[in-house]
Amino acid sequence: MKIRRCAVVFLEPREDVAFELESLLAGGDGLRRERRWLALAPHIGEEVELDGTERELLGQLSPGQWIEADGLDVDLAPALPRLLTEGLVVADSDGDAVRAGWRERDARFREVHWHPLGATLHAFTRWEGVDAVQNSKDSRTETAVEMRQVLGAPPVEAATRTEDDARVALPRIAPNDFDRLLARRATCRNFDPSRLLPFEAFARVMQRVFAAQAEVRVSEDTVFLKKNVPSGGGLHPMECYLVVQHVEGVAPGLYHYHATDHALEPLPFRATDAAGGSEDGREGDEAIPAEPSALRRFVMDMVAQQHWFADAHVVVLLSPRFDRTFWKYRQHAKGYRVVALEGGHLSQTLYLSATEAGLGAFITGAINEKQLERAFGLDPVSQGALAICGFGWRGPVMETAELDPAGEVWAPAAPGMGPA
Ligand SMILES: Cc1cc2nc3c(=O)[nH]c(=O)nc-3n(C[C@H](O)[C@H](O)[C@H](O)COP(=O)(O)O)c2cc1C
Repeated sequence: MKIRRCAVVFLEPREDVAFELESLLAGGDGLRRERRWLALAPHIGEEVELDGTERELLGQLSPGQWIEADGLDVDLAPALPRLLTEGLVVADSDGDAVRAGWRERDARFREVHWHPLGATLHAFTRWEGVDAVQNSKDSRTETAVEMRQVLGAPPVEAATRTEDDARVALPRIAPNDFDRLLARRATCRNFDPSRLLPFEAFARVMQRVFAAQAEVRVSEDTVFLKKNVPSGGGLHPMECYLVVQHVEGVAPGLYHYHATDHALEPLPFRATDAAGGSEDGREGDEAIPAEPSALRRFVMDMVAQQHWFADAHVVVLLSPRFDRTFWKYRQHAKGYRVVALEGGHLSQTLYLSATEAGLGAFITGAINEKQLERAFGLDPVSQGALAICGFGWRGPVMETAELDPAGEVWAPAAPGMGPA
């Protein structure tokens, strides 16, 4: 059997700190500090704790060159079975299904051409089952006033580099329609699920934000799309997955949006996905159209329990196909950043398109990526869950705060009394 190290792994000397009464009673600082070595390999996506022998063996193996396992140093050889089982070392041939699975996954990871740091950042910042609302309650940072109390003052709101009189004043230009549109954009946290979104309004927003507007065909298998947003390398890696909840003529459920056909591709929705899923996440009863309350629970899980987004008529998962961008930007230091920036372009275009249509829109980065990957059948090595957006009708009452200090969206004197 020949072996080699997995493509990418970083080792972290982690310190965990916990309260310990004995330490306090003994005159110490009341804290127990423990250090351990963790292997962070992006194709695994879970931390693996290592002992000294395992670290040493891992450090001796090449990620490129296969060697005979029989030739390992006798002191290090005992560490091999666990490293193979955990996926940190791969074998060229082995009947064991777990090891074969890792070999395949490591091979797929190599094909995607991730930059090692980008891959590791992405893999280890994915959430599962996080309740962001409870977290901010627990840390007493739910409101701006609480944040000030708990966190102290933030860095200044606008940076200053010169004295006032050294600044070159720019004229304030009278607003035109575009400025008025920009001014009406505000993150919507109050959707009205009782009002269906017309099919045409839905289709128009999708067309403006996510559809291919034209294409350049280099050869039969190499096509570049033109969209209404810029994209690193013109590769437009971002796929758009939808949870349609309240749209006229569209069955509630999960969809993939086809960017060149401007069409919806229905996907199975399984209640187990909403509940956190089974091992492989693909078991359970399919329901099409999906049961609305199960779908809403799934959306709540998607947005880490931010209930103010759960009633959006359309919820959009921005899901990059990293392999498309990294086809050009191979192991590129800027590759991951370029993909993430594209999420911002799409989100702003969505906000403005929705605003122009009299709708509200939002984006959130507080998402449970692992549940999303399972529910939409995404391979985390090559595809991701980057952010969630949504759009729909604003409700008549501001139950959750929106940032509208100039009263562009809500009547200025009476927040909570409904849109202006
Ligand atoms: C990348 C990104 C992530 C965001 N995540 C959240 C979020 O998790 N929850 C939320 O309520 N708003 C979220 N927002 C919205 C911001 O809170 C909002 O843009 C900000 O308060 C300014 O308000 P405005 O968009 O109405 O101007 C996010 C915005 C961006 C750009």
